[in-house]
Amino acid sequence: TAVTVTDVRLKSMSALAGGQMYEDISSGDGGLYAELLRNRAFQKVTPGTSAALVGWQAVNGATISVVAEGTPVSAALPNALRLTIPSGRTGAVGVANTGYFGIKVTGGATYTASFSYRFPTASSFSGSATVSLQSTSGQVFASANVPLAGSQTAWRRVSVQLRPTQSASSTNNLFVISLNGASAAGQTLSLAMLSLFPPTFKGRPNGMRVDLAEALQEMAPSFFRFPGGNNLEGQTVATRWQWNATVGPLADPAVWEIGATLTQSAGIGLMEYLEWCKDLNMIPIMGIWAGYALGGTSVPQNQLGPYIQQAADQINFVIGDPARSAAAALRASLGRTQPFDLKYVEVGNEDFFAASSYVYQWREFVTALQAQFPSIHFIATTNTFNPVLTPNPTEYDVHVYQTPTWFAQNSFFYDGFQRNGTKYFEGEYAAISTNPNDIFGPPSNGRLVYPTMQSAAGEAAFMTGLERNSDIVFAAAYAPLIGHATNNQWTPNLLAFDAGAVYKSTSFYVQKLFSLNRGEAYIPSTLPSRTGTLFWSVVRKNAGNQIITKISNTATSVASLTFVLPFANVASSGTAQVLTGGATTSNTPSNPNAVVPATSTIATGKTFNYNAPPVSVSVLTFAAS
Ligand code: AHR
Repeated sequence: TAVTVTDVRLKSMSALAGGQMYEDISSGDGGLYAELLRNRAFQKVTPGTSAALVGWQAVNGATISVVAEGTPVSAALPNALRLTIPSGRTGAVGVANTGYFGIKVTGGATYTASFSYRFPTASSFSGSATVSLQSTSGQVFASANVPLAGSQTAWRRVSVQLRPTQSASSTNNLFVISLNGASAAGQTLSLAMLSLFPPTFKGRPNGMRVDLAEALQEMAPSFFRFPGGNNLEGQTVATRWQWNATVGPLADPAVWEIGATLTQSAGIGLMEYLEWCKDLNMIPIMGIWAGYALGGTSVPQNQLGPYIQQAADQINFVIGDPARSAAAALRASLGRTQPFDLKYVEVGNEDFFAASSYVYQWREFVTALQAQFPSIHFIATTNTFNPVLTPNPTEYDVHVYQTPTWFAQNSFFYDGFQRNGTKYFEGEYAAISTNPNDIFGPPSNGRLVYPTMQSAAGEAAFMTGLERNSDIVFAAAYAPLIGHATNNQWTPNLLAFDAGAVYKSTSFYVQKLFSLNRGEAYIPSTLPSRTGTLFWSVVRKNAGNQIITKISNTATSVASLTFVLPFANVASSGTAQVLTGGATTSNTPSNPNAVVPATSTIATGKTFNYNAPPVSVSVLTFAAS
């Protein structure tokens, strides 16, 4: 295949090309949020049931249950763990947390454990609790003592640091709080809001898990869309994501009770999202709830007022003046007087599911909010131009979950779009199934559990089209971003993880290759065949006068390309970064590095040949002027 490149910097490219779409489905608690204890605060459970004890187990014959506390630790946390040390036990008796399917113990790291306790009935007990990290077979990695007094009938918060000197050989570990069985026999105490934090990304309190955060940082993302996704919408109006329920002290009223489908604590809240954006130098694309819940409820037009106000408060929390807005003053009280940067606000999520009510919801929300926040761009979430929305959206969010073949065959998706001032956000896309007739079905029917080389190559083919159309596609993100390897609500995910490790998928490497090899200008070249199996795009990067060519070969045979370049000077060599592997090969927990990019030197020149390996994504870089 001959590819003739022109010397025209036809389109300047959006700086937002590669970003991240984040939501708390199988990814926040036990995932990006570094908290290690599962069910740390017993919210959203029914006291007295065994289900209420998820994550917890008795140690050495202790009696444990979740109770509705007569004197709760906070109004938002009505339940507590009741621990009774029975008579006749010796040794350490107590309660253990199994973490989110395990706990990683790293030698040399400092873990911060904290909890609130009280004795429901005063006693003369005077002793201590031992807080420890240990293996399920009893090897203790770190421990510390906390003095306990039976006279303590009011809640008391304690915090200790645990410093294991050696790493555990597996994640089959426990966080244990125990008392001496002999001296504490007959004692009952209540425990609430228990927490165990390892070191966090950039040392932020209540922060992010380091290995996941570093993997996300490695992609050099340009934007961060939050909080979803379905997670924004909630199944019901009452369970929609509400910004004000996610800020402030963790044990304060209103912190809990949010979310779409999985119990989550909102430990990562609006403030954490914004700080995370700053830490990774990402532009926030923030969702506001727009009147539609996933279960099918649409708020009627005449009842939208409080929700529009809540959205205005959310925006004011981010950019408002503390002297003029209570929400902005709340932000200042949390340590951030200066506004954050905010340009894009997305109105709902996939509200094409309720397009007829979105017509008035969009109108009411955007008319009111645009008047208050004239610098903000509001992104619509219905199908493009259908229905017609007023005010006319300047940006639409477009989502697509499809087969690898669909992505390859739709790499020209945006080429036919009118250049009429409207911009597009490819806000969620992923090749998730090989079965076009059951895209969202189970793995037994074609759904991918992990991205494959074939799915990643399909996405890369599509992404060459996004580069070609970057004059109107201003931002794009694979979705979902992260998910637990086995305990998840959705597959495939860009990054999989478990308690011990992060697994980078083929799609992750494609996203990273495209993101790290952005250009400032798209350069036209011979167009690929729309129905073929070989796709490319060519961009210019100003730094180092580089020409960067991205090639996706979705066929299972080698594809030969001859590049013909118009530049006066072309370096005689360049680099090829290549991701290739078997079409159905995935990176999995048992084989995490099955497909990883390899870099080599290639011969380049005014005319040069390149053989794209079977099922591959290549990035060729060389200097030219
Ligand atoms: O990314 C998974 C889900 O897919 C998102 O929550 C939703 O927006 C889409 O339907």
